[in-house]
Amino acid sequence: MDHFHYQDGELFAENVPVAKIAAQFGTPTYIYSRATLTRHFQAYQQALGKHPHLICFAVKANANIAVLNVLAKLGAGFDIVSVGELERVLAAGGDPKKVVFSGVGKQPHEMRRALSVGVHCFNVESIAELEQLQAVASDMDTVANISIRVNPDVDPQTHPYISTGLKENKFGIDINEAVAVYAQASRLSHISIKGIDCHIGSQLTSLPPFLDALDRLLALVDALEDKGITIQHLDLGGGLGVPYQNEQPPAPDTYASAILKRLGGRSLELIFEPGRSIAANAGILITRVDYLKPTATKHFAIVDAAMNDLLRPALYQAWQEIIPVTPRHDCPPHTYDVVGAICETSDFLGKDRALAIQPQDLLAIRSAGAYGFVMSSNYNTRNRAAEVMVDVDQFHLIRKRETITEQLANEQLLPE
Ligand code: LLP
Repeated sequence: MDHFHYQDGELFAENVPVAKIAAQFGTPTYIYSRATLTRHFQAYQQALGKHPHLICFAVKANANIAVLNVLAKLGAGFDIVSVGELERVLAAGGDPKKVVFSGVGKQPHEMRRALSVGVHCFNVESIAELEQLQAVASDMDTVANISIRVNPDVDPQTHPYISTGLKENKFGIDINEAVAVYAQASRLSHISIKGIDCHIGSQLTSLPPFLDALDRLLALVDALEDKGITIQHLDLGGGLGVPYQNEQPPAPDTYASAILKRLGGRSLELIFEPGRSIAANAGILITRVDYLKPTATKHFAIVDAAMNDLLRPALYQAWQEIIPVTPRHDCPPHTYDVVGAICETSDFLGKDRALAIQPQDLLAIRSAGAYGFVMSSNYNTRNRAAEVMVDVDQFHLIRKRETITEQLANEQLLPE
């Protein structure tokens, strides 16, 4: 459930008319709902109850510091994949001791910064990375807490671009080699083994792949215990899907109770790294219709947002709902391809959508709070959108719209 709804014939974000935000800040603009972020985060907290756990929001899904701050105040930890994300967490008041550092290509300077602020754990993805981390920690005369990210070879049954736990993916260490790698890690002087980590993919809509992966991790916990290596936590990654259209993914409490049941009496701490399931339906992207263009074969609605603002439809053929901000009844609906102004045929936000619209109307693209703004770019020298957070009946600009001057500021002509 989210807090975007129609009231008196227009779309509201919590208690604020979306059109009011558009009038003040223009379009395209991302709008997030604090109440929805809170609700989704607390669903995880409540689902885990008293079992020791840490919910680390995946910063890659939505990195705005106001979003991170809202979650930090609720007690969230964070899953980061770069030192840039770490700096965002710190700027947002996040607790570094609740940060897990994922990613296949951590650089020495990133390890150094993460060690200096005392992150909870590094999720190590290769032997080479393990050795690099040992070298950095030793140089700093400190100890790095680690999990090995194992690749359990489970098919998450999702889009191939966002499945990560198959043998052919670049992520993690083959689970069949994990015991040997843990044994190697246990001999390193500046490495302390804490957990096992896996993340099998994103937008999963059923439980069996998660549970298959968990079973494989639990077998590994036992195999390691036999070798005298004790595991304190399991990090099960992110991946829980959201309803974009008709999907019916399990709710966090169904997911968590299935996991807790599988754990039996084990006291392993559980870490989760949800991104999409917290942020996606806590955000919309609003855009204005610039032109309607009927052609012999199709109607196009050309809008002021484009693939540089929201890449998911172009990149994954992702479907996101597009709704009018003020539904009108004075013209018949047509079937439109809703497209941006970018010079690419893949620049669409939605295809074959029945909409009753006129130029200058506002549209809202739903489920845009995760992997929306963070994947935006300056392609075609377009300014990146503004971001706004609604909080009950207040709304706040949390990132101002970029300007062309800002875009040009880092560039330089050749001398003479
Ligand atoms: N942990 C790790 C190690 C990850 O790689 C990811 C996502 C997450 C957690 C968070 O997963 P989530 O709960 O959000 O599914 N851009 C794509 C999604 C890429 C996901 C990458 N990794 C999209 O727009 O669908």
